[in-house]
Amino acid sequence: MWCDDFGPFDGRVWLNTAHTGPLPRVAAEAAALAIADKIAPRRLRDEAFFEVPARLRAAIARLIGADADDVILGNSASYGLDLLANALPWAVGDEVLAVNGDFPATIFPWKILAPHSLLRLLDPSGPVLEADELKAAIGPSTRLVSVTWVNSFNGHTVDLDRLGDVCRACGVLLVVNVSQALGARLLDVGRTPVDAVTACGHKWMCGPYGTGFIWIRRRLRETLSPRHAYWLPMHAGRGFGNLRDYTQRDVGARAWDVFGTANFFNFSAWAASLEYLLDAKIDKVVQHDQHLVGRFLDTVDLDRYELVSPRSGAGRSTLIVLRPRGEDAVTAQQRLAAAGIDVAVREGALRISPHLHNGDGDIDRAIRALG
Ligand SMILES: Cc1ncc(COP(=O)(O)O)c(C=O)c1O
Repeated sequence: MWCDDFGPFDGRVWLNTAHTGPLPRVAAEAAALAIADKIAPRRLRDEAFFEVPARLRAAIARLIGADADDVILGNSASYGLDLLANALPWAVGDEVLAVNGDFPATIFPWKILAPHSLLRLLDPSGPVLEADELKAAIGPSTRLVSVTWVNSFNGHTVDLDRLGDVCRACGVLLVVNVSQALGARLLDVGRTPVDAVTACGHKWMCGPYGTGFIWIRRRLRETLSPRHAYWLPMHAGRGFGNLRDYTQRDVGARAWDVFGTANFFNFSAWAASLEYLLDAKIDKVVQHDQHLVGRFLDTVDLDRYELVSPRSGAGRSTLIVLRPRGEDAVTAQQRLAAAGIDVAVREGALRISPHLHNGDGDIDRAIRALG
């Protein structure tokens, strides 16, 4: 029972992983060890400065089917997008397409590129951008498309394969923010036609806040030249023995890691969370989470709540978005909170997002509290 590996939740039900996922106990123990090392610093080995980022990078790589050498460690979803936006060789007039209604992290890194390149926001006719709409929108100056896999506000999922195929056919880059999906959805970058994926670690990957990564397909990365250098990866494998050797080595993607990767409190805890998820097997987690979403949707009273997120199909995610009929969403949220159920309100709707720490009993309790 995964729920035994989390908490304690003080008798409450956390149905808000889309805001922030709970830390599994193994990760809390890793953080406690990191704190103990800092309280008595003689315990901290020099090798740990290299081992912790290496362990984390390997776990992220396993999760997305990538080579660890192509994973860049960050502190957020935005870190990776910022890096990419600054490293791409833009020409005046280049265009970036993004989706009106997407999470702001997927928008701002491109917005600030103006006037050199211009962001154009697309208004999809339905809840998500469809491949034919994207195809029609791509023009001769379009260089890049930036989308979020699962929309934070309506819980719909874009079809990455179809969008990616359109982008490939048009010679346009596809960059995807997978923050609201990775850890609760399977992703294999070896098979999915995407050029870069970024995510924050504190939601479905159950890491601490202040964690994230970006993976950039190698052939794209090799065309980039960010003005960004970090001494720690340059010395990986060599220890602290010869720090005045300033040779610039080709260390792959890790040259672009966020500074301070020996961020033991966060990164050792996040590595433990990811290893925990990988041991649990992501396909089983996906199955479990979808079972909970299905159980909820089979029993919620849709006369009382309008369902904004998908009821079924490939577009369904782990985010259930409901608009109360005849009641303000904040009032409904407060009513749930008084019954011990914690959910979010986003854009005037309730957002309920179960993950592996939840069980059937949590869903049934939420349904009873919703009425
Ligand atoms: C889709 C999405 N992207 C990114 C974030 C967070 O962005 P960042 O890690 O850059 O702060 C969130 C939520 O906080 C989100 O819902």
